[in-house]
Amino acid sequence: MADVPEAPVFNIPEVKLSSSSGHRNMPVIGMGTMADPFDETALKEAVLEAIRVGYRHFDTASLYRSEKPLGEALAEALKLGLIASREELFITSKLWCTDAHADLVVPALKNSLRMLQLEYLDLYLIHWPLSAKPGKIGFPVPKEEQLAMNFKSVWAAMEECQRFGLTKSIGLSNFSCKKLGNILSFATIPPSVNQVEISPLWQQQRLRELCKAKDVIVTAYSPLGAKGTRWGTDEVMENETLKEIAKAHEKTVAQICLRWAFEQGVTFVVKSFNKERMKENLQIFDWAFSKDDYKKLNEIRQHRLMPKLEMVSPHGPFKSLEELWDGEI
Ligand SMILES: NC(=O)c1ccc[n+]([C@@H]2O[C@H](COP(=O)([O-])OP(=O)(O)OC[C@H]3O[C@@H](n4cnc5c(N)ncnc54)[C@H](OP(=O)(O)O)[C@@H]3O)[C@@H](O)[C@H]2O)c1
Repeated sequence: MADVPEAPVFNIPEVKLSSSSGHRNMPVIGMGTMADPFDETALKEAVLEAIRVGYRHFDTASLYRSEKPLGEALAEALKLGLIASREELFITSKLWCTDAHADLVVPALKNSLRMLQLEYLDLYLIHWPLSAKPGKIGFPVPKEEQLAMNFKSVWAAMEECQRFGLTKSIGLSNFSCKKLGNILSFATIPPSVNQVEISPLWQQQRLRELCKAKDVIVTAYSPLGAKGTRWGTDEVMENETLKEIAKAHEKTVAQICLRWAFEQGVTFVVKSFNKERMKENLQIFDWAFSKDDYKKLNEIRQHRLMPKLEMVSPHGPFKSLEELWDGEI
């Protein structure tokens, strides 16, 4: 291993997680690893490049199949001396629905750690507020296999993961205000993070206010609307208001979306495997929006971009999208 690691090109601000048992703060920008199409080699090369430019926070999940190549890339980065130690990294992974049963949570996390070649995670999230028949991890969850989650026992098992030192912090993903409130009503270790869809087209003001009041850090996923993916939309990157603001600041629409999230106090995970776009997405810290920009940003028509997900079933716990999102669509 080289003695002196290369200095990263960009330094990324960090936030403290309220219920974390570790010392590592969370970098406000994380690199997403859900790719479409999925290519292990491309992912590994992208992760090494991302570390060179300054990314330290990586977002994965058992669902994405990215844990193994991410783990290999991180091991390689250590070997190459791009980072001095694992402690420099902040790694998030997620519990899939098929493992969202009290007795399967710890084994699922141990399996993620094996894939990642790590001894602990920095953050482990419940991926969706839904359980499924134990078995093969896949998406969408077949309708007949969807089950109501026992929130109390699954969250208790998540707390166990943190107490065992398998993860430094625990949190949620895709939890509405109502579902987050439910977890907070009995948690002995409150969730540190709620990772949800957020972009200028789905700003989630109410959820953000609740999270702020309860010391839960919000992480935005698909902050660019997941342009060019099967699950995403071009609506964010093609939005005329965002284009207009971008032109006035001589920035890209992607930078407008990410700067907006940053100014809201929202952390985010953004995926790019392209070296130039990876850098572009970090160049958001030396400029700011004007009052006039905010007037325009606040007037953008709001709607959830990812409601098409087949997380509802005539048999399962959520019989409509309204129920899944508790009316927040
Ligand atoms: N918790 C959850 O349920 C959940 C759901 C969805 C996503 N996530 C996480 O969040 C991460 C990010 O979300 P996402 O991947 O859905 O969407 P995203 O980050 O909003 O968008 C990714 C897409 O935008 C392109 N892109 C990135 N930077 C760009 C730029 N500066 N200019 C133009 N295009 C750009 C990427 O292509 P290139 O690679 O070619 O640049 C990719 O096609 C995921 O990878 C995953 O880790 C979590």
